[in-house]
Amino acid sequence: MKRVTYFADKNYKVGEVDPNLFGSFIEHLGRAVYTGIYEPDHPLADEDGFRKDVMELVKELNVPIVRYPGGNFLSGYDWTDGIGPIDKRPTRLDLAWRTTEPNEVGIDEFMKWANKSNIEPMLAVNLGTGTPKEAGNLVEYCNHPGNTYWSDLRIKNGHKDPHNVKVWCLGNEMDGPWQIGQLSAEDYGKKAREAAKIMKWVDPTIKLVACGSSSAEMPTFPEWDRVVLEHLYEHVDYISCHRYYENLGNVNDFLGSFADMDNFIKTIASTADYVQAKNRSKKKMYISFDEWNVWYQKKVELKDWEIAPPILEDNYSLLDALVFGGLMCTLLQHVDRVKMASLAQLVNVIAPIFTQKGGPAFKQTIFYPFFQVSNYGRGEVLNTLVDAPTMETNKHGEIPLVQSSTTYNPEDNTLSIFALNCSEDDDLLLDAQFRSFGSVKIIDHLVMDGPDLYATNNFDSPDNIKPKKYDISSEAGEQLEIKLPKMSWNMIRLQCETKL
Ligand code: AHR
Repeated sequence: MKRVTYFADKNYKVGEVDPNLFGSFIEHLGRAVYTGIYEPDHPLADEDGFRKDVMELVKELNVPIVRYPGGNFLSGYDWTDGIGPIDKRPTRLDLAWRTTEPNEVGIDEFMKWANKSNIEPMLAVNLGTGTPKEAGNLVEYCNHPGNTYWSDLRIKNGHKDPHNVKVWCLGNEMDGPWQIGQLSAEDYGKKAREAAKIMKWVDPTIKLVACGSSSAEMPTFPEWDRVVLEHLYEHVDYISCHRYYENLGNVNDFLGSFADMDNFIKTIASTADYVQAKNRSKKKMYISFDEWNVWYQKKVELKDWEIAPPILEDNYSLLDALVFGGLMCTLLQHVDRVKMASLAQLVNVIAPIFTQKGGPAFKQTIFYPFFQVSNYGRGEVLNTLVDAPTMETNKHGEIPLVQSSTTYNPEDNTLSIFALNCSEDDDLLLDAQFRSFGSVKIIDHLVMDGPDLYATNNFDSPDNIKPKKYDISSEAGEQLEIKLPKMSWNMIRLQCETKL
C-alpha cells in the first residue's frame, strides 16, 4: 500500500478555529426562505411559521452565524419593504432572480428565526441600488436602543430590545456585471467607505466586511481587492471572497478544487498585506470567505416572476461531498487569516438541507462533512507535515493525493484528522507520528466512500450516502498506521492518553 508520512506536534499550530468559520447563508432566493426555513402551513411549523424540522437540522450542523438577506437579491432590496404588519408589505419584482418577492419574511422575522436557531445574524446592506444613508438607517433600526425614528419603529413593530447585529457586509459581489447597480472598484471603494463611516457612527461596536472579488476567475481579480482595500482599509475588519466549484467532466480537476481555494486565499491575503504595507497600517485584514460550495451552474428554464420557484436546487453526489471535504480542509488550514466563512447556502438553494413543500426534509451528501468539521474541528489547527504521493491535474498542476487538516481540542484532549484520499485506484496508509502528543488512541474513524461516485440522497433514499464506521485498531501509540480507502473522505478522532 502506498504510504503518506504525517507528523503532528502540539507546538506547531496554524491558529485557533474561529467558530464563525462554520457560518452559512440564507438569501431570498428560490426556496431558501419560503418553504425552506419558513412555511406557516407546514405540519411542523411553529407559532411563527418556521419549520421545526429544518431548525433541528440547522442546529445539528452547529452553524454559529448566518448571512442574510443576499446575495444578488440584496442589491435591489429595500429593507423597509420587509418590516411592519405583513399584510401591509409590498409585493415586489426581484430583478436578480426574476421572481416575485412577497416580503412575508423580513429583518425582524429573520432575527426571530436566528434567535430560535441559536444563530448570530450577519446582515448585509444594499450598496447596489441602496445608499449609505439607508445602510445607516438599518443599523439604527436594528441596534439603537430607542428614542429615534428608526429605533422607535422597531419597538412599534414589536421588538423592544435592539437586535444587536454585530457583523455587517457592505454590499454583495459589487464587481459582477450581473449585480444590480454594479460599480467599479473605485466607485465601490468610495461608496462603501461612506456607508462604513455612517454605520460605525451609528454603532461603533459593529464589524464590517468589504466586498472582495466574487471569484478568482473575475478579470478584475485581484486588482479589485487592492483598490477597494486602499479606500477601505482602516474602515473595515474583513475583506470577503466567494468561490464555487463544479465538476466540468474531469474528476481529478474537480477533486483538486482545494488547491484552487488555497491559491485564492493566499492571493487575497497577499493583496491585503500589500495594502497594509502601503498604508503603513498596524492592522491585519482578515478574510470572510462568505460564499463557498460546490455549485452546478447549469441553466434551468423557469417561468419568470414566480414566488419561491425551485432555483439552484443541486442534488449532491458522493463525489461532491468528497470535494466539499477537501475544501473544508483548506479553510481550516487558513484559520490564521480566514476568520469567517459562509457555506452558500443553508436550505434548498445549493444547500446541505433539502425540503419538500408540505413534506419532509433530508440531508444532502455535503451535510456530513460540514457536520463533522463544524462539530469536531474545534480548538487549534495544527501545522502538520504531510508528504503524500501526487497526481497530475489539467487545472491545478501536480497536487497531493491526500488533502488533510488536523485539529486539537484542549477541552477534551482529542485530535481530529480530516482527510480526503483523491486516489481513484489506491488505498493509502497514513503513517502518522504524534510526537509531543505522546501516546494516542483512535476512538472513531468514519468514512464516506462507495462504488458509485455519482450516488445521491433523495426523498426515497435519504440515507443512501452517509459516513460509515470503519474498523479501528485498539492499539495506542505515538505512531499509528491509518488506512484511508481509495476515493474517500475520512474523519479520524483520537484521544491523547497524556494530559497535555
Ligand atoms: O449563492 C448564490 C449566488 O451566488 C448569490 O446570490 C451571489 O452572491 C453569488 O453569485
